[in-house]
Amino acid sequence: MDLPGTLEKRDGEYYLGGCKLEELTREYGTPLLVMDEETIRRNARYYLDNLKQYYPQSNVYYASKAFLNMGICRIMEEEGMGLDVVSGGELYTALSAGFPADRIIMHGNNKSRRDIIQAIRSGIRAIVVDNDDELDRIEKIGKAMGSIIPVMLRVVPALEAVTHPHLQTGMGSKFGFKMHQGQARKAMRKLSRSEVMKPVGLHCHLGSQITDADIYLEAAEEVLLLAAEFKQLWDEGFALNLGGGFAVAHNEEEESFGFDSFLPEISQKVISLSRELNLPLPTLEFEPGRSIMATAGVTLYTLGARKEVDGLGTFVPVDGGMSDNIRPALYEAKYNAFVVNKEAEKRALETVTIAGRLCESGDNLINEIELPRIKAGDLLAVTCTGAYTYPMASNYNGLPRPAVVLVGNGQASTLIKGESYEDILQRNEIPAHLQKDEDQYLAL
Ligand code: LLP
Repeated sequence: MDLPGTLEKRDGEYYLGGCKLEELTREYGTPLLVMDEETIRRNARYYLDNLKQYYPQSNVYYASKAFLNMGICRIMEEEGMGLDVVSGGELYTALSAGFPADRIIMHGNNKSRRDIIQAIRSGIRAIVVDNDDELDRIEKIGKAMGSIIPVMLRVVPALEAVTHPHLQTGMGSKFGFKMHQGQARKAMRKLSRSEVMKPVGLHCHLGSQITDADIYLEAAEEVLLLAAEFKQLWDEGFALNLGGGFAVAHNEEEESFGFDSFLPEISQKVISLSRELNLPLPTLEFEPGRSIMATAGVTLYTLGARKEVDGLGTFVPVDGGMSDNIRPALYEAKYNAFVVNKEAEKRALETVTIAGRLCESGDNLINEIELPRIKAGDLLAVTCTGAYTYPMASNYNGLPRPAVVLVGNGQASTLIKGESYEDILQRNEIPAHLQKDEDQYLAL
C-alpha cells in the first residue's frame, strides 16, 4: 500500500510532514485533509526525472482535476511540471496562481466558447480538441480573433482498459475522435485544411486506475500509425501524449502501475516505431493526476458512537463521509485507515464498518476493516485520499467542505480554508416576494 513518505510514529504518536496529526486536528478541526508536500514533490519528480532519463524529449502535465488549488499550482510550477486543465475554471485557478500559460494544455469534451476564448487569450500551449463541432468552433473563433491556435487532437484507439467502468475513457466512452470509426482520420484531414489551427500533436487517454502497461504500448502504436499518415503536418515536430491513468494502490489488495519497467519499454517502442515510420521523433508526454496526489493525502476524522446492526456487524460513523470523499459510494473504492490515538493500540482488534454521517445508506467509507476497538471521540486517519476527493466534495446535507493543510518540515499551512455555515449560504438569495417583512409586525 502506498503511504505518504513522511508518515512516521514517534513515541506512539503519528506525524506527517513532521506535524503531529492529533495537534493538527486541534488547530483545524475534523474532517481535515492533510497533504504531505514532500510526497507530492517526490511523485512529481519521479515522473520528470525518470522520463528525462529514458526519453529526454519529454513533458509531464499534472492532470489538475485530481486536486487543484493555487498552492498546488505553485508546487507544480516549481517542480517543472506542465498542467492539464479541463475547464475555464481550472485555467483561471492556474493563471491566478501565476502558472505559466505556455505550460498548460486544455481538455474537455464540451468546451464552451468562453473556455476556448479564455484559452486562446491566455496563450496556452495547446487546446486538445475532442470533437468535430469543436474543430469548427475553434476555427471560427480563431479567425475572428486573428489568432493562430496550437491544437492537439484527442484520438481514441480501439482499446478498452481494464478498470472500473466509470473510469474507462476508451472506444466505448464519450471522449475524443474514435479511430476505428474513421473519425480521427477525418478530423486530421479537416485540421490540415485549417487556416488558424496549428496541429502540434496527438493525444489519447485510456482511462484511470490502469495497471496494464501493454495497453499504453498498443495505444502508442495506433496513434503513431495515424501520425505517419499525416507526416506533412509535423514539419515542426509533434507531441505524442499518452495521457495519465497510472494506478495507485489505495489498499493492500490493489496494485500500483509499474512505471519503472514501463518507461524503458515505451521509450524504446516510440523511438523504434518512429524510425520505422520515418517520422520525426515525437515529444513524449504523460498526464498523471492520481499517482501524484493520492498517496500524499490523509483524511482525519473524529469517530462517533458505534452501533450494532443485526446481520451487518458494527458500524462506526465519522464526522464526514461522501461529502468529502464520494469515491467509495461512486466507484466502490476501497481505502485503508488507522486509529491515530496513542492509547488505541492497546485495545483488542475488531472488524467494523466505517460509516459516513450523511443520510444515505450507501455512505460507508470503509466496509469491514480491522481496527483496535474504537470509541466515540477517537481519531481515524484514512490514507491515500489526496486525489479526487476534495475536487469532488460537496455540501450535501449542509456539511461544510473540510480544510486542506499542507505539511512539511514540521510546518502546517492552509491550502484551502475549511468552510463555515456562512460560506455555504454565501451565494443564497431569498427572492423579494419571499422575504420576511419585519415592519409588518410593527403596526400590531
Ligand atoms: N488526462 C486526461 C485527459 C484525463 O481525463 C485524466 C483523468 C487524466 C489525464 C488523469 O488520470 P489519472 O492519472 O488521475 O488516473 N474521479 C475519478 C477519476 C476520473 C479521472 C478522469 N480523468 C476517481 O475518483 O477515480
